[in-house]
Amino acid sequence: MLEFDDIQHILLTRAPALTGRYEFLSFREAAAGRAWLSAIKEKVHSVAAMRDNVEGDMRWVTVAFTWNGLRALGLDEASLATFPEEFRQGMVARAETLGDTGANAPEHWYGGVASPDLHAIAILFARDATEHARCVSEHEKLVAACPGVELLSVLDVEAIPPFDYAHDHFGYRDRLSQPVIEDSGEDPTPGSGAPLKAGEFILGYPDEYGVIADRPQPEMLARNGSYMAYRRLQEHVGKFRDFLRQHGNTAEEQELIAAKLMGRWRSGAPLVLSPDKDDPVLGADMQRNNDFNYKEMDPHGYAVPLGSHARRMNPRDTAANMNRRRMIRRGATYGPYLPDGAPDDGADRGIAAFVICGSLIRQFEFAQNVWANDKNFHELENERDPIIGNHDGTMEFKIPSRPIRKKIVGLPAFTTVRGGAYFFLPGLKALSYLASLNREDGVNASVG
Ligand code: HEM
Repeated sequence: MLEFDDIQHILLTRAPALTGRYEFLSFREAAAGRAWLSAIKEKVHSVAAMRDNVEGDMRWVTVAFTWNGLRALGLDEASLATFPEEFRQGMVARAETLGDTGANAPEHWYGGVASPDLHAIAILFARDATEHARCVSEHEKLVAACPGVELLSVLDVEAIPPFDYAHDHFGYRDRLSQPVIEDSGEDPTPGSGAPLKAGEFILGYPDEYGVIADRPQPEMLARNGSYMAYRRLQEHVGKFRDFLRQHGNTAEEQELIAAKLMGRWRSGAPLVLSPDKDDPVLGADMQRNNDFNYKEMDPHGYAVPLGSHARRMNPRDTAANMNRRRMIRRGATYGPYLPDGAPDDGADRGIAAFVICGSLIRQFEFAQNVWANDKNFHELENERDPIIGNHDGTMEFKIPSRPIRKKIVGLPAFTTVRGGAYFFLPGLKALSYLASLNREDGVNASVG
């Protein structure tokens, strides 16, 4: 059974928040970091607590740490050494693997998140603006009460209007496809595949191979924990809209280009099920909008180009070992909405997302390295993910069609990486364990 009372809510549930703030923290002194953690851990919802009162609660707090952060709290070296190498190195050191080069390189990231001084993140999701302000002020007071804890930066996140469905700044409906974990109490929507073993996402449980693979020590620190890859991606909305206008003569043609880049119409309707025209009712219907495959229904990509974002990030039945590569996506949009027809105002807007997985290297890094950035993925030659790939204006995007395919050359970068980090997301008992590390040599009070 999954320990719902120990797993942080973000792993298995999605808070009904319209707004929030990410606070990036540094611990100048271990004791101050632990004092901060002792106080804030009381505010962190477990999955069970979240489910008990999802309609009544106004805010949802998540806390996670970089490897440097675990050390800064006083975790001992022997324990630190048991974490997987990519997590120990951190996202900045993995830049080449991830495709974070050129304009996307960590040296250009905002808010000090590329610094080794980044130790922790507090994710404060709130139901509305009033609650957002209250949470921010409460957290401000807590940080002020813990001298030795420094706020490196904050990022305010906010849903984009209209608020009745989740979508990004490019206008795509999001949050449609998500892996489901066995015994999580959720049922997969039709077409989403069978529930996956918990170990794919939660440490301390068997994975799809039946083994408990990643075992940082002590066991109670890792149990019910996970890893979160944080990505802040700026979306160049003006450039995206210009591109659609350049390659589509009519509004319908522009919508089709947008759909081909994603693999879904902006309404969410999958191109496999509705290849020629949008179907917003289908897009909104969770019982139907994942009910497709690629191998049988669209082997050559006449509906969904092989290089489109959604087909790359989940090639479904056209990739081996797919159950070992799924990712849980959380997060939000940030920055002001750019109204339709308005010229680009240069504002910073985009997505600030968390990719949650049991193995950063096998799940998140593989997706970035192979699916998003390998120029020859699916033998596409000179293509990268049109939404999140690293683009320098020399790549192509091929749209299979009969009698001849359409090839767009010189694809611009629609997004730029503005921040990122690897976090360990401990279970609630592990938060208490970390908060009670009370000696600078890292020996835990309760076990030392
Ligand atoms: C600006 C950045 C991004 C945008 C605008 C974006 C947008 C979208 C949209 C609209 C969908 C389709 C809706 C859905 O299936 O739920 C989607 C699917 C997906 N995206 Fe992204 N995404 C971005 C970044 C990323 C990143 C960084 C990753 C991971 C490395 C990722 C992984 C996925 C996955 C796994 C799916 C599900 C595909 C499926 O199961 O069919 N995305 N994305």
